[in-house]
Amino acid sequence: MIDVNGEIDRLSLMVSSLLIVTRLEEIELNMRPVDLYEEVDSIIKLFLPLADQYDIELINKCQKNVAVLMDEARFKEILINLVDNSIKYSREGGFVEISCIKREEIVELIVRDNGCGISEGDLHCVFDIFYRVDESRTRKTGGSGIGLYLVKKIVELHGWSIKVKSRLNEGTEFIINIKSGL
Ligand SMILES: Nc1ncnc2c1ncn2[C@@H]1O[C@H](COP(=O)(O)OP(=O)(O)OP(=O)(O)O)[C@@H](O)[C@H]1O
Ligand SMILES: [Mg+2]
Repeated sequence: MIDVNGEIDRLSLMVSSLLIVTRLEEIELNMRPVDLYEEVDSIIKLFLPLADQYDIELINKCQKNVAVLMDEARFKEILINLVDNSIKYSREGGFVEISCIKREEIVELIVRDNGCGISEGDLHCVFDIFYRVDESRTRKTGGSGIGLYLVKKIVELHGWSIKVKSRLNEGTEFIINIKSGL
């Protein structure tokens, strides 16, 4: 029964992610200035119980007092997906570090972990819908391969860009170039 229950949770999560994906094109962004340090702080608080469970340290290395124009709810979805991945694909005792650096009109936001990493061959596919690296190895983590697709769509809706750098068995970083718009 516990297995079945877990599976139902997984499927309903997948259905709600798919609903977001299918409605993405119609979404109107509700843009307003948001402080990045505060935003990252609230996401870290959200993930603390899960991170504790896996003995993973969550670190907020953002510059303070950096605000950018964004749809806050959508931005939370970006961070939630990236941090969720970093925790899921990390090892016990690892870390997830979120940093942001303002460079003139661009703010660079980086979510970095020292987890299992992604091989060069898989790296260019990770933003594809339903793509999961090594399905058998990652089955226990129970995702659907929608998260990063959604992240990229939301990033592009804002007119921003995202790239990924990774080394197998060393770690991964997702870098978002945010137009500060202020
Ligand atoms: N931080 C990371 N470290 C290592 N591998 C990663 C990381 N983030 C993503 N991946 C790989 O990229 C794949 C796609 O990620 P994505 O978030 O789209 O899907 P998922 O996490 O498997 O499922 P979902 O997000 O829908 O629950 C993952 O299955 C995983 O193999
Ligand atoms: Mg994911």
